[in-house]
Amino acid sequence: MAARIRIMRLGLAMKAIQIPLGLCSLASPALSPSRASAELAPGQRRCSVKPGLVKEAAVELTAGKVAVVTGAASGIGLALAERFARAGLDMVLADVEQPALQAAEQKVAGLGVKTLAVPADVSDEAAVNALAAAAVDRFGAVHVVCNNAGVASDADPWFGPVSTWRWVLGVNLWGVIHGIRAFLPLLAAQRESHFVNTASAAGLIPATSPAYDAAKHAVVAISEDLYRAMKVAGLPVGVSVLCPGWVRTSIYQAKRNWPQSLGEVPPPAATAEVMSPHVRRAIDEGMTPAAVADLVADAIAADRFWVFTDPQLTQTALDRWQRIAEGQDPQTEVDLPGFPPAKQVVAEIRRLLAGQRGGSQPG
Ligand SMILES: NC(=O)c1ccc[n+]([C@@H]2O[C@H](COP(=O)([O-])OP(=O)(O)OC[C@H]3O[C@@H](n4cnc5c(N)ncnc54)[C@H](O)[C@@H]3O)[C@@H](O)[C@H]2O)c1
Repeated sequence: MAARIRIMRLGLAMKAIQIPLGLCSLASPALSPSRASAELAPGQRRCSVKPGLVKEAAVELTAGKVAVVTGAASGIGLALAERFARAGLDMVLADVEQPALQAAEQKVAGLGVKTLAVPADVSDEAAVNALAAAAVDRFGAVHVVCNNAGVASDADPWFGPVSTWRWVLGVNLWGVIHGIRAFLPLLAAQRESHFVNTASAAGLIPATSPAYDAAKHAVVAISEDLYRAMKVAGLPVGVSVLCPGWVRTSIYQAKRNWPQSLGEVPPPAATAEVMSPHVRRAIDEGMTPAAVADLVADAIAADRFWVFTDPQLTQTALDRWQRIAEGQDPQTEVDLPGFPPAKQVVAEIRRLLAGQRGGSQPG
């Protein structure tokens, strides 16, 4: 046991050492500006901050600051944009759904702040880089970046088309990666800034949707890595990860944004017949996006990493980790807040699958 703990500590120490090295390409040219450009390899980006010399400060959400929100046309993203605008921040709203984006911009502009709407697909690196450039062109600075756009799919992850994985990982994971990479050089060069990456409670508890769970677990992990890297290097960039439970949004209609480039929209999985009504109800009865936005604003003001919305889900994650620590296999039946008892859901799924098997293979 003691040896295992030592190995874990060593692993953590190695991680802490590797992170600033990983930042070197970002930060070192600033230490010797005269040599900077000649030494940058293609694809390397530069930041003009001396690591360790900037005081750490939480971003005050006040007039004169600028926030960028992806997935801002609806749900949590729109609520974030409205919350920031009420605090007086000028807003850059990005989304792939153009009519909804325009409507959202009008709504936010109605709160009396300057706005910029940028149609952008966050799974596309060039589009996110263009978003960052447009924000700087318009406002000259960005203080808060919410990598929030996300989609969910009810398609079969194992027997359905692989395009489901490409879509869900493309938006939910690559969207966050592109957002961090596009904005980090800018944010690191300012005295105060903050990233908010939207993960999910599904980033702590694999539950029902493998592609979604995978993307959200990865968002939690890279957010934690980024947080640690910023602290170790002394860069003035706060990081929060938002892990909501059920929230009353349009996430269940995410297929409205299925990109034609990925071919046909995959059909729902067989189990969707059971799961869909439960998920829909949980979302319809979930927290309001405005309440989530308040929690995010509080976390930014306090420079706090974790943003949880549902203590019961946090407890479920804790129970999972207790089983992991004890080396126990995953549970088949995990009770989720907002859902009927897991026993009932599993029984419904087994009945459905047995009926289907019975239909196609008599006897
Ligand atoms: N609603 C929930 O219960 C819940 C729970 C946990 C996490 N989340 C996460 O919250 C985030 C926001 O989702 P929501 O619940 O507000 O859903 P929503 O559908 O209301 O909002 C998502 C927004 O993202 C936009 N979008 C989709 N694909 C995009 C792309 N490729 N590029 C840019 N924008 C794109 C949509 O047009 C939409 O405006 C997502 O990351 C989601 O995974 C939601």
